[in-house]
Amino acid sequence: MKKRIAIIGAGPSGLAQLRAFQTAQQAGADIPEIVCFETQSDWGGLWNYTWRTGLDMNGDPVHCSMYRYLWSNGPKEGLEFADYTFEEHFGKTIASYPPRAVLYDYIKGRVEKAGIRDWIRFQHPVRRVERDASNGKFRVVAQDIRNDRETDEEFDHVVVASGHFSVPNAPEFPGFELFNGRILHAHDFRDAREFKGQDLLIIGTSYSAEDIGSQCWKYGCKSVTVSHRTAPMGFKWPDNWKEVPLLERVDRKTAYFIDGTSADVDAIILCTGYLHHFPFLEDRLRLRSANRLATADLYKGIVWVHDPDLFYLGMQDQWYTFNMFDAQAWYVRDIILGRIQVPGKGERIADVEARVAAEDALKDDYACIEYQGDYVRELAAETDYPSFDIDAANTAFFQWKKHKKQDIMAFRDNGYVSPMTGHKAPPHHTKWVDAMDDSMESYLQEPA
Ligand SMILES: Cc1cc2nc3c(=O)[nH]c(=O)nc-3n(C[C@H](O)[C@H](O)[C@H](O)COP(=O)(O)OP(=O)(O)OC[C@H]3O[C@@H](n4cnc5c(N)ncnc54)[C@H](O)[C@@H]3O)c2cc1C
Ligand SMILES: NC(=O)c1ccc[n+]([C@@H]2O[C@H](COP(=O)([O-])OP(=O)(O)OC[C@H]3O[C@@H](n4cnc5c(N)ncnc54)[C@H](OP(=O)(O)O)[C@@H]3O)[C@@H](O)[C@H]2O)c1
Repeated sequence: MKKRIAIIGAGPSGLAQLRAFQTAQQAGADIPEIVCFETQSDWGGLWNYTWRTGLDMNGDPVHCSMYRYLWSNGPKEGLEFADYTFEEHFGKTIASYPPRAVLYDYIKGRVEKAGIRDWIRFQHPVRRVERDASNGKFRVVAQDIRNDRETDEEFDHVVVASGHFSVPNAPEFPGFELFNGRILHAHDFRDAREFKGQDLLIIGTSYSAEDIGSQCWKYGCKSVTVSHRTAPMGFKWPDNWKEVPLLERVDRKTAYFIDGTSADVDAIILCTGYLHHFPFLEDRLRLRSANRLATADLYKGIVWVHDPDLFYLGMQDQWYTFNMFDAQAWYVRDIILGRIQVPGKGERIADVEARVAAEDALKDDYACIEYQGDYVRELAAETDYPSFDIDAANTAFFQWKKHKKQDIMAFRDNGYVSPMTGHKAPPHHTKWVDAMDDSMESYLQEPA
């Protein structure tokens, strides 16, 4: 009997797992039976944009947290697949900060070429995963939406690749219930033009705050006020942008901050991050982790320490993304194929403790980037994932950080060297502040 593997999610992480098995099969390995369950009707995870917010057509929460006009917030040179370069996909070098549609096309290109769509059951949300003590198998119950029935099957391994940037962390502040305007979480933000001419209050100081604020500024909001809990972002913002301490309360349209200052605002956007949320997993299988580089309870960042037949992909906070998911997926594949041995529980727990301590000792973002680069290098080195120049990828990230410091509204006008091909990205034909069309056709146009 062949082993059966369940993969939950066909976003970049789940697709990396499919691709890992497909490359082994292509090289002549006897691979297990793979079933990938995906809630949505298409692949790509967060990159599969929808206008919907709230619930989808079937009453399930909408997964997408992306929005119109979203451009990559980090250089594409840091996320490039080592086995499928941007140049291979687009047939030429392209600029460094592609809009969502361009990255979506790139993600799809690799898996379309690999011919693995048949391994995915679309519109199949996983409802329950349990470990069956009687036979040691995982019982996976999913809903077949199209046929309105439940499937109930056994698997030898489960790979959780359901993402962790979809379920909002949405704190409440006094007075919200009487606020005279719109309050929304970043997860439900779709079109910056909705806020044209408005005074905006943003809570949070991470990437959603920075990028949604920048989008709204670019598309004509009147002002942006960003409220921080820990520290301001500290970039050189435009004149109609200010940073203030934490919101204390709201009274009708007026927001009061803990330093005693106030501002009248039309809308409040909670850019307060997301929860690791796995309602479909039974309690003893469920990861509980903060959004950090060294996740809790995952040996090598992927193997559930309490049950090494269960794996999680992409659960870390992310500097590296697509190629990190690849390194993880190749590693998981090799454990399942018996090429890599997982040590006993004591060693697994010690591994997690060491990773957490090492992360806690990191001094700044540059050290965090190197830490995650080292992690990708460590995993990739033990598999046949094509090795690539991690130092070059780190360099692209370092330059990105410097360019943001220089000019937060112009950092996307820079280009970096691909760690895969060694070729430098050309500048985009239009400066980011002036580029209102985020379509793939527009992005791929040659400079006039
Ligand atoms: C607003 C935003 C912008 C971002 N921009 C960038 C960027 O510019 N560059 C970058 O590298 N990264 C970016 N990211 C990070 C992003 O996390 C990764 O790029 C990537 O999408 C993570 O892939 P994933 O497969 O782990 O998760 P996801 O992309 O979230 O995919 C998870 C998949 O699992 C499915 N799923 C969930 N639950 C179930 C279930 N119960 N049953 C079946 N299927 C299920 C979902 O439908 C989804 O398809 C961004 C994230 C956000 C929120
Ligand atoms: N264009 C793009 O590519 C793009 C755009 C947006 C997001 N993203 C990605 O999306 C992912 C998630 O980013 P994110 O910014 O949504 O989440 P995040 O990085 O987890 O940041 C959460 C923010 O919310 C703040 N916060 C949490 N609870 C709070 C509370 N009760 N009160 C006040 N502030 C609170 C945190 O402040 P503290 O610092 O005080 O903890 C932090 O600033 C990242 O991977 C990012 O790269 C990408």
